[in-house]
Amino acid sequence: MLILSCSSKLRLLEGMLRQGLPDTLPVTWDPSDFGTNLYTAFYRDEGACRALLGNSRAVDWSQAFQIQGLQDGVYETIRDIARARGLEMEMYPYLPLLHPDPPAMPQYRHDEGLRLAPVSPAHAMLLSNTWMFGWNSWSLRYLCLLIRHFPNACLLGPEGPPISWSLSDPLAALMHGYTLPEHRGQRHIAPVVGMLAAQLHARGFPVYTRVLPHNKPSLQHLQHLGFRILPGAFHQLVVRPGFAQSQPAHALDSGQAPAPSSGERPCAQ
Ligand SMILES: CC(C)(COP(=O)(O)OP(=O)(O)OC[C@H]1O[C@@H](n2cnc3c(N)ncnc32)[C@H](O)[C@@H]1OP(=O)(O)O)[C@@H](O)C(=O)NCCC(=O)NCCS
Repeated sequence: MLILSCSSKLRLLEGMLRQGLPDTLPVTWDPSDFGTNLYTAFYRDEGACRALLGNSRAVDWSQAFQIQGLQDGVYETIRDIARARGLEMEMYPYLPLLHPDPPAMPQYRHDEGLRLAPVSPAHAMLLSNTWMFGWNSWSLRYLCLLIRHFPNACLLGPEGPPISWSLSDPLAALMHGYTLPEHRGQRHIAPVVGMLAAQLHARGFPVYTRVLPHNKPSLQHLQHLGFRILPGAFHQLVVRPGFAQSQPAHALDSGQAPAPSSGERPCAQ
């Protein structure tokens, strides 16, 4: 066996594997990565959805994965199948928020001395250590992927590192919006979301996000920007059979990350 560490050889290998898709797909597949093992659910017939999700050729229940869906019944469907298989499921019932008219979003200027910029992979550790699913090697790798491949924005402080940021995820939803605790309450997140929303809108995506119902600061700032809360719940359902993360179980049960050193509340997106 040859272990490659040289970046140009790894890129060459990646190109060869890509040319061989779909046969080469298992090479890039990580059964413990519930971030990239992502399913979404939309159905007109709940029974058909139940039958499809129960079919192990459609969903591989031996791997860690997540399903996201907005419709009534999606939670109950996954819960019942997971229970029948003896699997635990984490459930995050977010409020869905949509901006009805992104070009009309109020423009907030950032303070002098600060600079709007894309997030850099060099910031991934800071982002991982402030994220509700963070503080582990998986989250670091996943956030690096998001930073590299999907639109994002941040506000850089005078010293360089970001003081406020927001990413977008594989479903083009805003995620991990965050302002460092010492900079909160000064509307720093507003120009960040404005910049990211403009990028998503220019690419033809809706500008939307999901927020846990108790997260008042986040709901406040999004509503200031004109986001509207949609009816229903945006369920994120996570199944991880036998793939424990390195963070304490209580953090995952409650949807909270272990308290960072400042004692702040972590990002809840
Ligand atoms: C949500 C968050 C990104 C807002 O960033 P921000 O730059 O402080 O945004 P704003 O200045 O517009 O403040 C938004 C709301 O935060 C609250 N707030 C104000 N000052 C605050 C402070 N010093 N500390 C904490 N919250 C404060 C207020 O409710 C404010 O709304 P209001 O101005 O109508 O009263 C930030 O609070 C944060 O990082 N929270 C933790 C991570 C998180 O929950 N992210 C969102 C996931 S959905």
